[in-house]
Amino acid sequence: MTTALIDLASPEYRLRPWDIYRQLRDEHPVYFMPEATWDGEDVYVLSRYEDVGIALKDKARFSSQIQQDNYMNLPMLVNRDAPEHTRLRHSTNRAFNARLVRQLGDWVQGLVDELISELYEHEQVEFVDAYSTALPLRVVGGMLGVPLDRKADLRRWSQAVMNSFAVSAGLDPDSVPGFFEDIVEFSNYMEELAHERRGKPNRGDILGGLVEEHEAGELTRDELVTMAWSFIAAGHETTMNLLGGGIEMLLREPELAAQLREDPSKTAAYIEEYLRLNSPTQWLLRRTITDVELHGVTIPAGGLVHVVLGSANRDPRQFENPDVLDLSRPNVNRHFAFGAGAHFCPGSALSRLLAEATFNSFYPVLDRFSLDPERPAQLRKQQGSYGFSEMWLNVHPERGR
Ligand code: HEM
Repeated sequence: MTTALIDLASPEYRLRPWDIYRQLRDEHPVYFMPEATWDGEDVYVLSRYEDVGIALKDKARFSSQIQQDNYMNLPMLVNRDAPEHTRLRHSTNRAFNARLVRQLGDWVQGLVDELISELYEHEQVEFVDAYSTALPLRVVGGMLGVPLDRKADLRRWSQAVMNSFAVSAGLDPDSVPGFFEDIVEFSNYMEELAHERRGKPNRGDILGGLVEEHEAGELTRDELVTMAWSFIAAGHETTMNLLGGGIEMLLREPELAAQLREDPSKTAAYIEEYLRLNSPTQWLLRRTITDVELHGVTIPAGGLVHVVLGSANRDPRQFENPDVLDLSRPNVNRHFAFGAGAHFCPGSALSRLLAEATFNSFYPVLDRFSLDPERPAQLRKQQGSYGFSEMWLNVHPERGR
């Protein structure tokens, strides 16, 4: 191995990783990157579908507790193993369950209609800010009892949490100044909200459920607060990548849009295929618990493993013609965009609901929007997150009706 195939920090790897993924899968199914993090840790990269599945599901060999010291080691679901993870996850599942999501349909549709009608007020609009960020933040913020007038703060806090993940994954903390102070501010705010709810009847939202879990002694105060803001962080950026990217693709590919407009029952398959091809979370981290041998390479116990969901989802060993969007794909639900195993995303049903409401509402009015050729959509440069950071649309209110 002479030249390094990937540089975790390079924009190329973040923006156009598909060829690199192919090379990794075919030539280096376990790719060793010595001293690859900002603090000099070795990284092992897993890119094939089968190996990514093993890393996500084999709890005896792969840990989610990736940090070795206590810096930013917050009690979050995503960075805990059993038995602590099992307890936290039970509380989450009770506070945020499928029944709750099923009841949200009309409320979500109302928010979608409101945001779309606000788009018509402009001749040009930046869609990521005006829609794809706004919808998940309003929905998840609303479910946590955060009033709409704090939406600017919510964005800042959510960004801070994402930055904290990136720092624990190896980003230099000096490159994201102020993130720690923002997290403390957010935590204090959530604590106040939770405090106000104590002893009051549950309104049937996530915060109510978490406060109940706290009062029953299932969650500590710190766990409740961290849980609340991990919903904001985990739910907003990922879903925003799906909504923005899904609309961009419909605007760029009129035949696909026409097909879906004619048969909206294919929307569910469109969502899964979009997620498979453009996984909003491109990679996750794990740490090996024991020595793990794969493809003749031994990853030593304690090794940091870069688990590339985005590559697994385009592995031809699992998906035929993996780079093609195929609405009739027989294994359309088998992608890893929401992870797998014990940490499988608890927000998957909610984000599918938001995407379905969004795409179905846009089909009939899609002709009123076009991508601005003067300002091509920009992909975000943040590590591990794939989606548009900026997408300007021209709005044509006279068309389409
Ligand atoms: C398109 C949208 C979404 C994508 C692609 C996505 C992706 C993921 C992935 C890959 C994981 C697994 C992490 C791991 O194994 O380390 C995960 C976990 C998680 N997601 Fe999502 N997510 C989305 C939406 C949401 C929403 C809307 C929420 C909440 C409102 C949410 C909350 C969470 C939480 C709390 C976890 C941690 C679960 C655990 O560790 O047990 N996500 N998500």
